[in-house]
Amino acid sequence: MPEFCLITWTESGMVKQPLVPPEPVTVGRLPGSTLMVDHPQVSRLHARLQWIAGDGLWQVSDAGSRAGTRLNGQRLEAGQSVGLAHGDLIMFGPVKFEFHAGAVDEGATLGVGGPSDSAERIEWLSEGRNEELSNEHLALLLAAGKDFHSGLDEAGIRQRLIQGVGDAIKFPNVAFVLRPQTEDDIQIAEHRGEIRDGSGRLRVSRTMLRKARDGQDGREGLVLVTDREDLTDNDMAASLERSASNQAFCIPVGPRGKFGFLYADSGAGRSSLDRASLEAAAQVALGLVRMATDSLKGVVAVRDMLDLVVDMVESTDPCTGGHSRRVAKIAELVAKEAGFDAASCKRIYECGRIHDIGKVSIDQQVLRKPGRLDDAEFAQIKRHPEEGHRILQKYDQFSETLSGVLQHHEKWDGTGYPHGLAGTEISEMGRVIAVADVFDALTCERPYRRAMPLEEARQMIARGSGTHFDPDMVSAFMAIPPDVLARYMEVGKAVTA
Ligand SMILES: [Fe+2]
Repeated sequence: MPEFCLITWTESGMVKQPLVPPEPVTVGRLPGSTLMVDHPQVSRLHARLQWIAGDGLWQVSDAGSRAGTRLNGQRLEAGQSVGLAHGDLIMFGPVKFEFHAGAVDEGATLGVGGPSDSAERIEWLSEGRNEELSNEHLALLLAAGKDFHSGLDEAGIRQRLIQGVGDAIKFPNVAFVLRPQTEDDIQIAEHRGEIRDGSGRLRVSRTMLRKARDGQDGREGLVLVTDREDLTDNDMAASLERSASNQAFCIPVGPRGKFGFLYADSGAGRSSLDRASLEAAAQVALGLVRMATDSLKGVVAVRDMLDLVVDMVESTDPCTGGHSRRVAKIAELVAKEAGFDAASCKRIYECGRIHDIGKVSIDQQVLRKPGRLDDAEFAQIKRHPEEGHRILQKYDQFSETLSGVLQHHEKWDGTGYPHGLAGTEISEMGRVIAVADVFDALTCERPYRRAMPLEEARQMIARGSGTHFDPDMVSAFMAIPPDVLARYMEVGKAVTA
């Protein structure tokens, strides 16, 4: 059973009230209350929490208080008991608590107040505090800001953004939508909760993405639906109706959604947040998106710089011009055919772009030698995977592509280099890149060898199944239609023209 507790934030930090089934909990000003809340607007006996063993949940009810008890902005009626879910906000008069089921991440809070026992007298924040940006929101922003600067890669930044926004707004469904390349190409990079409706369609409507990209009502970058019923846009209303979500928002990440879009909705069966709470949480989400955007800009700048280095090294050699671009594209195709998810395919593409970056450390005379290499020269060339690994290790954002760089010359039967790994000792990324790398090498013209025709090269890859290559990756490669492969064989030629 998860641990249950109520938490709140005071000037001295987080305060946690454990809820231990089946003991009922009383909340109020009365000394002896399980949770004593010494605030003038809290009644002596204000509310009760009760464990419902049959349902395995806690219920909250108001105990006839003067200022009332609110759950997620909705005031509880007399005699009404409502079940609690993780993340619910309960207001006892003006005092806010959050219901947690499961471990509480104390690192994500302001200060180091730590848990208190129920007898502790709680000092509430001053009345005049800014309700628009609560301490809880500030804590979220601070914790996320720290993480965004801890060297996350793009996927890590997106995941951290989703977590932060989910925590800020308490919507169960949050997604990072990649910038669509075409009208029909809406892809989710990362998400939590349910982001497709019953028919498998994505909830985020094209209209919503377009409005987020172009701005709406003079508010750049935030499309906020506070009540589906008020929507005049049929496309947006229909997409929310299909999922029974009443509230949603969408924020572009980067100018006009350069890096993608953040989308969140309230899902079915949850009571709505009041407008002020929703607006406040959306402002926090905007802040998180701005921080994530800055972080993504840094990551993209490093990647663009390395891509440039690769292109420059390759452009001096007509044999390898555009090689990494083509390997990246073909490896991505193989990964898609092999059933990898969108985020993995993107990482494999990135790995393809930089898989040979270690060649910058190899003698250019040897690299460009027109003709067969002697043993000493080949030994030099064989250093490039480890050199690449060494160079990229400095950048946290490449932590998940390192294995592909290091292992793209390993062979399934263990006869490759640098470490002679075999079978699944070689990372999936290394196994995918190996197929794409050899295919491109075969189909490129060399001074000492003509370019192999497409079909011949495909058969050569097929023959390497189980010896040079992972049979699964060869099957995935062979499933790519030859005309598609032919199209990608042209990639990068323009770079070196
Ligand atoms: Fe290589």
